[in-house]
Amino acid sequence: MTTPTIELKPSSSPLSDQERDAILAGPGFGRHFTDHMVTVKWTEGRGWHDGQLVPYGPLSLDPATNVLHYAQEIFEGLKAYRRPDGSVATFRPDANARRFQASARRLAMPELPVETFVEACDVLVQHDKAWVPAHGGEESLYLRPFMIATEVGLGVKPASEYLFVVIASPAGAYFPGGVKPVSIWASQDRVRAVPGGMGDAKTGGNYAASLLAQAEAAAQGCDQVCYLDAVEHKWVEELGGMNLYFVYGDRIVTPALTGSILEGITRDSLLEVARDLGYESVEERVSIDQWREDTANGTLTEVFACGTAAVITPVGTVKTDGAEWTQGNGEPGPATMRLRDALLDIQRGKAEDKHGWMHVL
Ligand code: PLP
Ligand code: COI
Repeated sequence: MTTPTIELKPSSSPLSDQERDAILAGPGFGRHFTDHMVTVKWTEGRGWHDGQLVPYGPLSLDPATNVLHYAQEIFEGLKAYRRPDGSVATFRPDANARRFQASARRLAMPELPVETFVEACDVLVQHDKAWVPAHGGEESLYLRPFMIATEVGLGVKPASEYLFVVIASPAGAYFPGGVKPVSIWASQDRVRAVPGGMGDAKTGGNYAASLLAQAEAAAQGCDQVCYLDAVEHKWVEELGGMNLYFVYGDRIVTPALTGSILEGITRDSLLEVARDLGYESVEERVSIDQWREDTANGTLTEVFACGTAAVITPVGTVKTDGAEWTQGNGEPGPATMRLRDALLDIQRGKAEDKHGWMHVL
């Protein structure tokens, strides 16, 4: 695989300091974008080429572009954090790069070299560093690398041309309520992914498939959907954009990977952070009945969801067909908050990075 270098074509009209500061004062999630983006092309027979940093702006696509019809698309999500000394670091970009390669294989797309993925993120963050929110708050700069099939034509086949793009968006709390427990609808009939499907790939189709279930959750008065396995409708998998953890005193459990669960980088990191804090952390199957019964008998003390965008979010009320229960007293639990703070302290450069996860720019 060739590794293109990224040519710099900076914007001649970036937003003014005042305009940017106004956005950074309340960025929300995914609503504002920085001054630049990085693009890299892939063509059959030529490989990766034409890496560029260019002004952020629209992509021009022929209406018959493959991705618009058959959804050959993958994406990633990672964050850049401002450190106490003013420098900036991304969290485990190599892990995102490897997951991007795994998603590419599943979608019959070319694999981007890990070093090109990391370089593209670095170049964008370096040029738009002023967009990384100040140290000390909940905010960070969310990076969204993605790849689309750009061959023009309606034939159903792997495309012969692709475009890799990285954009960046200053991000505050993903859920407007901040660290407030979310309510969960455990759907008994909608599934997110099936064995042999693409549940373990980060591809737009999985999110399109989740939208109706999400609307049904809202109709039930819930914030998020919890998906059960597609065969027995019994084993807890994950939420639409987050993995799950169950706290049994000093033992924390996350559903074992089945091929239909996205292997979250936050999930993986927490298995280690929990061990560092003295918890036993394991990957095991958890059924929806066990969730309800262990909450009732008091052994399951806390449940939380985790992911890059939402960090760690406590689960409050759970609803499923014919049953409803609440974890603990409905407030964020102590283990949830301890793990959240420990992970965020590493990400923000406040605690020792003993696993070598931070990529300082
Ligand atoms: N599960 C799904 C379906 C997701 O979209 C995400 C978000 O990326 C996650 C889990 C959590 O993954 P990560 O921790 O790598 O952000
Ligand atoms: C993330 O946490 O990065 C996600 O991708 C979740 C969602 C915004 C799709």
